[in-house]
Amino acid sequence: MTDSLFTPLRLRGTEIPNRVMVSPMCQYSAEDGFATEWHRVHLGSRAVGGAGVVMAEATAVSPTGRISPGDLGIWSADRADALSNTVEFVREQGAIPGIQLAHAGRKASVERPWDGGGPIPEEAGGWETLAPSANPYPHPEGDTVPTRAMTRDDLDRVTAQFRLAAERARDAGFGIAEIHLAHGYLLHEFLSPVTNDRDDEYGGSFENRARFPLEVVEAVREVWPDDQPVFARISATDWLPDRPSWDLDDSARLAPLLAEAGADLIDVSSGGIHPDQRVPESGPGYQVPYAERVNEATDAAVGAVGGITTAEQADQLIRNGRADLAVVGREHLRNPYFTLEAAHELGVDVDWPKQYERGRFR
Ligand SMILES: Cc1cc2nc3c(=O)[nH]c(=O)nc-3n(C[C@H](O)[C@H](O)[C@H](O)COP(=O)(O)O)c2cc1C
Repeated sequence: MTDSLFTPLRLRGTEIPNRVMVSPMCQYSAEDGFATEWHRVHLGSRAVGGAGVVMAEATAVSPTGRISPGDLGIWSADRADALSNTVEFVREQGAIPGIQLAHAGRKASVERPWDGGGPIPEEAGGWETLAPSANPYPHPEGDTVPTRAMTRDDLDRVTAQFRLAAERARDAGFGIAEIHLAHGYLLHEFLSPVTNDRDDEYGGSFENRARFPLEVVEAVREVWPDDQPVFARISATDWLPDRPSWDLDDSARLAPLLAEAGADLIDVSSGGIHPDQRVPESGPGYQVPYAERVNEATDAAVGAVGGITTAEQADQLIRNGRADLAVVGREHLRNPYFTLEAAHELGVDVDWPKQYERGRFR
């Protein structure tokens, strides 16, 4: 039988009730890394809206790993605790709560978007960033934040931070850990020759550039419960075809290695490594072909993200076997009830929150 948007997805011992995931989206509304009421309402209302997976935003494994001072953090037990009532609420709605574990690498230490998004110098409360090599991100604003090439000790420390973050997320009740290897942040910076010119075993060849990201995936998998899935979000291409860069062939090669390291689903995004990137198209489902290619390369499940905005589109994606999960970002900012409305449009009978039953039939 053909799977559709409302066919549950079983990954390890976890049953996701449908194929819609709320894409991780930074809210820049944390206080010193702590979740606030905003997170509870934001994530909670999307769970009420019926999504199968509610993925919390990029959550920093260390203070240095934050993109901005408003990022969520999980570098201490009390920061994880601040998320646990949200997790519980999301589960009560029948959704699986996920958390994206992240380190911003050389793209850290910038203002919140609504404060301008520019780099924050150290004297104004910014911080030194970490990266595979000491080349700062060329911010379009013209300023840079100093970037230090990671030493062997730094590598071990960051791996340990990801492992500890996963343990805390597990203890807070999250059901999925997604590792952020995309959008030009630290783990992507190791993968891409644009940002990695190390001459040790973590730079140079494809195998060497993939080594640290894969070690991080293994470390998370080691502590993540056996019956719960780990996701890995990648940038399928750097969109920089005129220079040595990461491309779709590299992603197809990486996918089975991620699966071997313990990833159960590859969430396929793209871009973010360098402002020179040229994105050829960003129309409906613009990254779906990348998900499809990764899907062909691995036995792991695959998520497609980018420009998925309608029920029909999301359903077709699953029915045609192009991906296993429809990952929806901005449409969820417009409409937290995307999934309930999709069920209505597709004529599928799903449970509504009992509090909202009277809004169900038009
Ligand atoms: C406000 C906002 C915040 C985002 N934050 C994250 C994030 O924390 N982690 C991530 O991997 N992607 C992040 N993204 C990218 C989205 O998850 C998604 O991949 C992208 O918006 C494309 O999907 P869409 O067309 O459905 O929005 C963010 C996007 C937006 C609009």
